[in-house]
Amino acid sequence: MNKVFAVVGHPIEHSRSPELHHAFAEKLAIPLTYSKHLVPLDGFTQHVKAFFQTGGHGLNITVPFKEQAFALCDVLTERAKIAKAVNTLWMQNGTLHGDNTDGQGLVEAIQSLGWSLQNSKILILGAGGATRGVIYPLAAAGATEIVVANRTLERAEQLVQDLEQHVPHTRLRAVSLNALEGEFDLIINATSASLSGEALQLPAQLTFHHAYEMAYGKPSSFLEQAQQRHVPHSDGFGMLIGQAIESFYIWNGVKPKLADFLYLAPKA
Ligand code: ATR
Repeated sequence: MNKVFAVVGHPIEHSRSPELHHAFAEKLAIPLTYSKHLVPLDGFTQHVKAFFQTGGHGLNITVPFKEQAFALCDVLTERAKIAKAVNTLWMQNGTLHGDNTDGQGLVEAIQSLGWSLQNSKILILGAGGATRGVIYPLAAAGATEIVVANRTLERAEQLVQDLEQHVPHTRLRAVSLNALEGEFDLIINATSASLSGEALQLPAQLTFHHAYEMAYGKPSSFLEQAQQRHVPHSDGFGMLIGQAIESFYIWNGVKPKLADFLYLAPKA
């Protein structure tokens, strides 16, 4: 019998998750159905309970419900506890389990580009939920230093204070977006600037050797600047595939190969 999966969000129409999971399932010959559920803002908990009570196997959770999903779980993985947000739910022995696969998705996307994270020095722009979710997986993948740069410096400082205890082998620092300088192996844009079409100006005194934009399918001034500097760069479609692969692996016990699915990327 087909296992039943869904992604829950509000809005949800834009989600590519059903297409990705069906592509994985077809490639690996695993029968499943995966649909989109638009859930009212006040109806999340009820929806999740009903889904699992009626035999649902796993849920992905997207905006704005990731924190509510975190609060609802009986058992959390270490990386979900640190991110304080959950994007993957499943039932095990009658208890609700939650994980956050976004950060590992980023790590896998970067590694599949052939960019090494071992002993790396990374600059992350932005200090919101997207950044919180990736610090621990990047540290676990071998980053020795992570600098978090934010427009509002206090928010980056708070993030460093909250997370530094969880990454004891990685130097974590906060800086203002106005004070960017130095040399980094990798720069990651985790601000929502590209989503809202706003430009981010990277100063000339900042040097970086690889550039990763978490957004995809949108023009990005960040990626344009990387291109002008002849720096290898990528948009965030690989991260989207990566987080889906990790969820699929949790639920089905087999791991699709990221490079097999890059053909699904939106055409520029
Ligand atoms: P998410 O959960 O996607 O991280 P968020 O919590 O709203 O979203 O965080 C958005 C991040 O993008 C923040 O770091 C924000 O900076 P502030 O904390 O100063 O608001 C950053 N951001 C959004 N628009 C930006 C812009 N035009 N320039 C620079 N940073 C921007």
